Amino acid sequence: MIEVFDLHKAFNGEEILKGITTTFSRGKTNLIIGTSGSGKTVFLKCMLGLFKPEKGKICYDGEAYSELDEEDQRALREKMGMVFQGSALFDSMTVEENVMFPLKMFTRQKKDEMLHRVNEALDRVNLDNANKKLPSEISGGMQKRVAIARAIVTRPKYLFCDEPNSGLDPKTATVIDNLIQEITIDYDITTVINTHDMNSVMEIGEKIVFLKNGNLEWEGDKTQIFKTDNEAVTDFVYSSNLFQKVREAQLKGL
Ligand SMILES: Nc1ncnc2c1ncn2[C@@H]1O[C@H](COP(=O)(O)OP(=O)(O)OP(=O)(O)O)[C@@H](O)[C@H]1O
Ligand SMILES: [Mg+2]
Repeated sequence: MIEVFDLHKAFNGEEILKGITTTFSRGKTNLIIGTSGSGKTVFLKCMLGLFKPEKGKICYDGEAYSELDEEDQRALREKMGMVFQGSALFDSMTVEENVMFPLKMFTRQKKDEMLHRVNEALDRVNLDNANKKLPSEISGGMQKRVAIARAIVTRPKYLFCDEPNSGLDPKTATVIDNLIQEITIDYDITTVINTHDMNSVMEIGEKIVFLKNGNLEWEGDKTQIFKTDNEAVTDFVYSSNLFQKVREAQLKGL
């Protein structure tokens, strides 16, 4: 579980996060949604320990990051996995080398132990026979799987994903969403996902935090989001033409 208390983050005097308080549960896919520039990535980077907030605190299963010494902070960061926007794989490394990278960085395991873990992670994301391929030789959906395998190879307790299905067709995007949800449940991870994809909201929105201009505007789940009167949320939900048409049809009783 991650608990966030009154989180403030500013850059050059401009406040980007303006006092966010919320909770993300373990074994659940928690989503952060909101329009571009609302502060989703900054929020995620604060939770990853990459940005230091000016005020407020973040607790990981009861441990406040800001109250730990440097060594314990590093140990806590090693319990985190991250899937960056656009996969961010190393182009010159094979799939196997990409997934092995965090193990080489953070552990002292022997090569065969690492290889075992790498194959376990690749198996978990349903990627067989791709070990020796380069990222350029596999599809975008497969690249996302590799990025997820790399994020889970260290068996993290906390998984952060920034727009994990951007650039994918809707069907592949749903497969990736469902895969992240299965892994979250299987490994009992606290997962936080940034998205502005309504399909993801409907598919895996177990807890949804809606950010607007650095404030927490609304929170709830995927059934509540279709019932709220909050205008910022309904604007966001019904911003695509398709949803607008569905809503109009509903209002007309079609
Ligand atoms: N390192 C930084 N230095 C200064 N300003 C930053 C930095 N990172 C983010 N910002 C600013 O913080 C604001 C929120 O950015 P953020 O990337 O969190 O938005 P977002 O909700 O993730 O948007 P998107 O959906 O486009 O990814 C923006 O105005 C951005 O310019
Ligand atoms: Mg972002």
